[in-house]
Amino acid sequence: MAQQHPLAPLSIETIQLHRRFGDFTAVESLDLEVPQGAFFGFLGPNGAGKSTTIKMITGLLQPTSGEIRLLGQDIWKSPEKVKRQIGVVPEKLHLFERLTAAEYLEFVGAMYGLDEEMILQRSNELLALMELDERKERLIADFSHGMKKKLALAAALIHNPRLLFLDEPFEGVDAVSARILRDLLIDLTSRKVTIFLTSHILEIVEKLCDHLAIIHKGRLIAAGPMQSVLNRLASEQPVGTASLEDAFIQIVGQGRGTRQLSWM
Ligand SMILES: Nc1ncnc2c1ncn2[C@@H]1O[C@H](COP(=O)(O)OP(=O)(O)O)[C@@H](O)[C@H]1O
Ligand SMILES: [Mg+2]
Repeated sequence: MAQQHPLAPLSIETIQLHRRFGDFTAVESLDLEVPQGAFFGFLGPNGAGKSTTIKMITGLLQPTSGEIRLLGQDIWKSPEKVKRQIGVVPEKLHLFERLTAAEYLEFVGAMYGLDEEMILQRSNELLALMELDERKERLIADFSHGMKKKLALAAALIHNPRLLFLDEPFEGVDAVSARILRDLLIDLTSRKVTIFLTSHILEIVEKLCDHLAIIHKGRLIAAGPMQSVLNRLASEQPVGTASLEDAFIQIVGQGRGTRQLSWM
């Protein structure tokens, strides 16, 4: 059952969320609670189930079982209503590459029912912020991976969402763009936008987020406010493993050992 959180209303809540692919369980009994306004990092090694989870939460992949509430509503029961309030940058970008950047934002804005004037104003601001304004008349097909990511983020923000989902947002983004992206995300959380970000890179989550959950083989390992999770992990680890990276490798690296190449 959903718990009452009078002091910290939840933006995202999953209850016993499950996803199987054939007889393989990708996400198992996942209970997540993301408070409103949190900068939430969803951390785990490759194949842990992060993208599967974000796809289910954002209404792109049907859960095998379990419940999802976004801003108190069930996304699978009232998808249109909920999707108006969220922005998503998925793992695999599905941009219409034969459009220019400006045309794409115009299309997305119209899809959300914004009027022309508002679309133009917001897309100009977004393109300037992402430093894409000089290329806005170019076809997306000619953009670098990092530029595509920035455009996807611009598109995810045009309707002023209260909740933003980012699946590996820093993947393939150069250092300069990553800094712009980071500053923008921090600015968004100060405007009470809840951010849910996945990453397999510990450093990003540790530096940026105020809450985190660690997932491994589809199961939740730890979750809560950053410092309390770090403290708990540190207290459970051998002396000297104080950083998140130490604790993370300790948990997810168990049994892997050091591998060597037979021919080198
Ligand atoms: N459509 C699919 N069919 C079969 N297996 C899948 C599918 N999508 C994901 N998986 C499997 O589920 C597991 C979790 O994948 P994913 O959620 O993409 O992990 P992550 O994003 O954490 O790297 C992986 O083992 C992956 O191979
Ligand atoms: Mg992924």
